[in-house]
Amino acid sequence: MTTPRRAPGGFPVVGIVGGGQLARMCAGPAAELGVTLSVLAEAPDASAALVVPSAPVGHHTDTDAVLRFASACDVVTFDHEHVPPEVLERLVASGVAVHPAPEALRFAQDKLAMRERLGGLGVPCPRWARADTLADVEAFGREVGWPLVAKTPRGGYDGRGVRVVSAATELAEWLERAATTGTGLLLEERVDFRRELAVLLARSPSGQAAAWPVVETVQTDGICTEVLAPAPGLDPDLSARAVEAGLRVAGELGVTGVLAVELFEVEDAGGAPGFVVNELAMRPHNSGHWSMDGAVTGQFEQHLRAVLDLPLGSPRPHAPWTVMANVLGGDYPQLYPAYRHVMARDPEVKVHLYGKDVRPGRKIGHVNVSGGDLADLRERAVHAADYLTGVVTQ
Ligand SMILES: Nc1ncnc2c1ncn2[C@@H]1O[C@H](COP(=O)(O)OP(=O)(O)OP(=O)(O)O)[C@@H](O)[C@H]1O
Ligand SMILES: [Mg+2]
Repeated sequence: MTTPRRAPGGFPVVGIVGGGQLARMCAGPAAELGVTLSVLAEAPDASAALVVPSAPVGHHTDTDAVLRFASACDVVTFDHEHVPPEVLERLVASGVAVHPAPEALRFAQDKLAMRERLGGLGVPCPRWARADTLADVEAFGREVGWPLVAKTPRGGYDGRGVRVVSAATELAEWLERAATTGTGLLLEERVDFRRELAVLLARSPSGQAAAWPVVETVQTDGICTEVLAPAPGLDPDLSARAVEAGLRVAGELGVTGVLAVELFEVEDAGGAPGFVVNELAMRPHNSGHWSMDGAVTGQFEQHLRAVLDLPLGSPRPHAPWTVMANVLGGDYPQLYPAYRHVMARDPEVKVHLYGKDVRPGRKIGHVNVSGGDLADLRERAVHAADYLTGVVTQ
């Protein structure tokens, strides 16, 4: 079936462009709320297409496919930020409610636009510059010192499109490609951060907003492997300032739905804690997966409430700590046989797998566990994740 079947009783149809795990994880909350989901999927076996009955196959760059898909929906939202601006424009012109709106989404689609806008709002950011030529890179390197961080402004994820470079010449190929697309490159100083944090909140079209506690995100080789909620030992004043900045960004940019603000925690010259913003994501985010089991309202339910302009649910955590560990694809393709051990060893661990093929390093699932002893929870979460991928065998 490709046409979404509306539930009786006046319930809406929410369309999600993109059939990845974020769309998939909206399916449970949508079913609970009686809301029908429809997903524009990349393929019949896309992660979300395996669990959502209405999952027409189409590409997010195909305007006709997106418009046809949207015509059966009351609200359209996104699994990723890769829908081109010209497609978004046509989508809005078709009359369907689009959340987040393209004017907001652009600041999550384009890291150069994001840096400029955040600077205008006075939100702390790393020193940055746009580079179109080797001379631009040389000049920025002289200003901030080497190595520096180079990013493709659009289309990156999981650290692809991010490079630490020690000499301008390393960017020759990227600059050439950027010249053909006219996008330029984003250069940033390499931030000497204490750790990475994330603010996660939801904002509705009416302007109601709710923030979860600030979390710590642990990255390994540029990919998020663990999230600790809330961030341990976080200075309360820093936490309040970070949440305030997130709420201000959401309000000023007109974000609707879930907003994630990735942060670096830094120290000033006197050792006082502060933060700079790394990037924005306007959709449910890896840093919020803990909330599915660790908070009164999880991010996927909250995203649906927000894009439907329903009152938001409480983001209050259920337990002192929740630890999320990502399951990254290993060498072993059979995941289900591991359930027996993982579930028997720790009945409190909640497993979420995404129905994706195992490829080394690919995010294929996560586990959550909540409780009172952070070190113990981390050990248990990481063990379960490692066992699922075959990294440990007992
Ligand atoms: N200016 C910087 N200084 C130091 N480290 C950085 C900087 N920018 C990015 N990084 C590191 O690279 C990681 C990935 O960067 P970024 O979040 O911009 O990439 P992405 O691929 O768009 O995002 P994601 O991994 O969230 O999908 C960051 O989480 C951080 O560990
Ligand atoms: Mg990131």
